[in-house]
Amino acid sequence: MTLVSPSLLAADFMHLDRDIEMINQSEADWLHLDVMDGVFVPNISFGFPVLEAVGKCCKKPLDVHLMIVHPERFIRETAKVGAMMMNVHYEACTHLNRTLHEIHEEGMKAGVTLNPSTPVSLLEDVIEDVDMVLLMSVNPGFGGQKFIENTISKITRLKRMISESGSKALIQVDGGVQNETAPRLVEAGADVLVSGSYIFNSEDPKRIIHDLRML
Ligand code: DX5
Ligand code: ZN
Repeated sequence: MTLVSPSLLAADFMHLDRDIEMINQSEADWLHLDVMDGVFVPNISFGFPVLEAVGKCCKKPLDVHLMIVHPERFIRETAKVGAMMMNVHYEACTHLNRTLHEIHEEGMKAGVTLNPSTPVSLLEDVIEDVDMVLLMSVNPGFGGQKFIENTISKITRLKRMISESGSKALIQVDGGVQNETAPRLVEAGADVLVSGSYIFNSEDPKRIIHDLRML
């Protein structure tokens, strides 16, 4: 079974309570929360006050994706909103080993995210400290973008690295995940699918979540 983490970025921000209720009633495994700072990525989304409010009414584990510079400054805040998983970008962390350990010390799972142009080989020396690798299949910053094909071969290479190292890291994919790309991602070895516009723009989001989990 595939884990599904719907991205709240594609929800209706005027009716977040309604959309979170839909997530609560769905088979979604986690809720994916995209924090953007307008510096690491060319867009600004929402920050900790919103995460705190969402955390109070969401029954699913929070999967927080920080697209910000210096994510190590916000480890305590991320833990405080009740996050299960804290994803930091490889490109934003100078001392990744230390950051991963600090995330664990705060009681969260630690995820490392790679931009489409960042090779998976750069994770060789941290893979055993990582609970999840998030492969971006679009350039981060916006929902609804076109899937970058080279992600499929990155999954294959990452899968090999994980099994050779004995790491238990999950592989998550984020960006352009929809009916055509999702089966190919799962076949290549993806464990967790993030999907925003495909789920929230659909007539029947709960059905889409169900179908993605069945892949
Ligand atoms: C993009 C975000 C994604 C985004 C995915 O920077 O990290 O989580 O919400 O959106 P879709 O599924 O519409 O490509
Ligand atoms: Zn994301």
